Amino acid sequence: MSKNILVTGGAGFIGSNFVNYWTENHPQDKVIVFDALTYAGNLQNLANLQTNPHFLFIQGDICDRVLVDKILEREKITTITHFAAESHVDRSILAPSAFIQTNVMGTFTLLESFRNHWEKQNQSPDYRFLHVSTDEVYGSLNIDDPPFTEKNAYAPNSPYSASKAGSDHLVRAYYHTYNIPTIITNCSNNYGAYHFPEKLIPLMAINILLGKSLPVYGDGQNIRDWLYVKDHCRALDTVLHQGKQGETYNIGGNNEVKNIDLVKLICQIMDEIAPNLPVKPSHQLITFVKDRPGHDRRYAIDSSKLQKELNWKPFATLETGLKETLQWYVNNSQWWQPLLSEDYQKYYQKNYTVE
Ligand code: NAD
Ligand code: TYD
Repeated sequence: MSKNILVTGGAGFIGSNFVNYWTENHPQDKVIVFDALTYAGNLQNLANLQTNPHFLFIQGDICDRVLVDKILEREKITTITHFAAESHVDRSILAPSAFIQTNVMGTFTLLESFRNHWEKQNQSPDYRFLHVSTDEVYGSLNIDDPPFTEKNAYAPNSPYSASKAGSDHLVRAYYHTYNIPTIITNCSNNYGAYHFPEKLIPLMAINILLGKSLPVYGDGQNIRDWLYVKDHCRALDTVLHQGKQGETYNIGGNNEVKNIDLVKLICQIMDEIAPNLPVKPSHQLITFVKDRPGHDRRYAIDSSKLQKELNWKPFATLETGLKETLQWYVNNSQWWQPLLSEDYQKYYQKNYTVE
């Protein structure tokens, strides 16, 4: 059966990678992107789909119940893949309110609308509400702790992760209370093309190209587990086609690395692939800056449930994924240059203090 998929946040980083992946791999399905186009949303990410008759873009806010109801009905939506969110931890520390509004209230609005729509369709077993969430809901690991499994208790530490935890709990409750066909995925840090330059990897790549300093928070020993966005999109495909309703699946890349080592690796690859760098070797640009308040020390994902039950595994290593990603930033300055706006510069200055 072909699907009519509503992709909330489909103009953002992961959402747009997912839409590009889905239209290529499932051309029979109709994909409707619903996105408010906040600072993080960018129609350039979807530029090659403009003439695709199976693609539609609608600008709007997931908190707008009337509009969401109208779209679910008019477009005969069978599947919601819910990416829309405020997604940056640093921004959630500076201004948490939008995080509660979009991540908690927005998810609640979508759930209510979907419940109503699904009930009108005689509770069709083919419908799905896929909620895309983060490993940050589990809190921070010590160096010798095992990676997060789906059984870990929630212990969010930032306004961002607390808002995502709230949305996960709502999705869980809607499954248990109303039986609506939901699935939750919790993934580790993604990287790849179309990543907004406030996040670590694109920020470092662009600053190297511009000869600007590379701000590493605190002692640089914090660990993240990096997932190539294309592997993530394949995992979501697997979960949508084979995942069980009411279940949670962790998705990770098996690529744990300390921030400082990652930044050094980025410098090394950029020195090899980028022509005419203003400062070379680029590791000279590394600058330790004031730590993020409440900075989680380590995240690591155990994705063995998804690997064993649904037969997914990541293909990219950090080396292969990073090379592809960094080459993309080298080749696509016309994509990232316009994003370095006055607002972005203001935010950027507020966020960093050299120690
Ligand atoms: P992003 O910030 O790049 O994109 C978010 C998108 O949502 C943007 O297009 C934005 O315009 C849209 N949006 C924001 N508020 C909206 C609203 N009220 N109504 C409609 N659209 C709205 O985020 P991302 O990095 O692509 O993350 C996507 C999802 O994946 C998020 O739910 C995030 O929590 C989750 N996630 C991200 C990562 C990561 O490493 N990026 C890791 C784990 C989980
Ligand atoms: P980020 O990309 O913001 O993702 P998250 O906070 O969701 O993990 O940051 C990844 C790691 O890199 C995190 O430990 C914070 C650190 N970091 C820096 O050291 N410098 C930076 O400029 C940024 C944006 C992040």
